[in-house]
Amino acid sequence: HAHLLGIEQLNPFDITTLLDLAEVYVDLNRRDIKHSDALTGLTQINMFFENSTRTQASFELAGKRLGADVMNMAMQASSIKKGETLIDTAMTLNAMHPDLLVVRHPHSGAVDLLAQKVNCAVLNAGDGKHEHPTQALLDALTIRRAKGGRLQRLNIAICGDIAHSRVARSNILLLGKMENRIRLIGPPTLLPAPFKEFGVEVYDDMRDGLKDVDVVMMLRLQKERMDGGFIPSEREYYHRYGLDAEKLAYAKPDAIVMHPGPMNRGVEIDGEIADDINRSVIQEQVEMGVAVRMAAMDLLARNLRARRTDAGVMA
Ligand code: CP
Repeated sequence: HAHLLGIEQLNPFDITTLLDLAEVYVDLNRRDIKHSDALTGLTQINMFFENSTRTQASFELAGKRLGADVMNMAMQASSIKKGETLIDTAMTLNAMHPDLLVVRHPHSGAVDLLAQKVNCAVLNAGDGKHEHPTQALLDALTIRRAKGGRLQRLNIAICGDIAHSRVARSNILLLGKMENRIRLIGPPTLLPAPFKEFGVEVYDDMRDGLKDVDVVMMLRLQKERMDGGFIPSEREYYHRYGLDAEKLAYAKPDAIVMHPGPMNRGVEIDGEIADDINRSVIQEQVEMGVAVRMAAMDLLARNLRARRTDAGVMA
C-alpha cells in the first residue's frame, strides 16, 4: 500500500503482517533498543487539525525512533487561520518534499482527498467519524497479546457512543475481517442503523450485551460531534451505560477492559475499573500505539523506497 487511509483497504494478511512487525518493535522498545534507521533520510510531517495526546505523541516518538526528521505543524498557529485551504496547505508542505504525512482532520474523507494530491505516503490519524486505522491496529495487537496470540472467534463488545466514533468504525471493520463476533451496546440514539449492515449484533442493555464477552471496549461520549443533537445527561448515561464492577461481572471472568482514551471517568467508565491492572489494558493500548505506528511507517517507507527505486529516483 502507498498510504494507510483506513482499515477498509486492508486484508487479513496485511493486518497480520503489520501486527507481527509491531510485535518486533514492542520487544525492542521494552529492551531499550529503541532506535533504528528504517526511516533515516526521510522527512515526516505531522498535521493535526484536531486535538490529540496519544496519537500525536506516539507518531512523533515512532518517527524519531526510526530515524526520520520529524516536524510537528502547529496547526493553531498556521496559515489555515488566515483562510488557506487544507489542500493549499498540503500542497505547500508537499513542495518541501516530505516522505510521510500524518494527518488528523475533523472532516470525514479529508485525509483521503489530501492523499490524492500529494506525492508522499499519507497516514490517517483520524478523520471525522470515518476511520482511525492505527487505533484499530493497536487495539487488535493489545487483544491478540492478552488472548495468547488469538485474534479470531472472540466475542467483543464495543460500548457507548458508536454513532460518532471513528474508533468504533475502524474496529468493527478490522475485527470483522479477522472473523470475530462483534456486539455493539449503547442507547439507540447513539447506535445508528447502518452499523447493522456490518454483520454485528446490537444491544441497548449493557447486562444483555456483555454476557460472556472476551473483550469490553468502552468509548467516550463525543459531545463535540453531537452538534445540537440529543446529548444524554452524564449521570443518567453512567447509570445505564457506564462500565462498573456490577456490569462487568456479566462478561467472562478473564474479559479485558479497553478504552482508546481520552476517557471521562465516571461517565463511560468507573475510575477503579480503568485502573484495575487485572482487567484494564488501557495503558498497554498506549504502549502498543507506539509499536504499531513504528510498524506502519516502516512498511510504508519500504514501499515508498521500492517505488522510487523502480522510478529511478534516489530514496
Ligand atoms: N485514542 C486517541 O486517538 O487519542 P488522542 O485523541 O489523544 O490521540
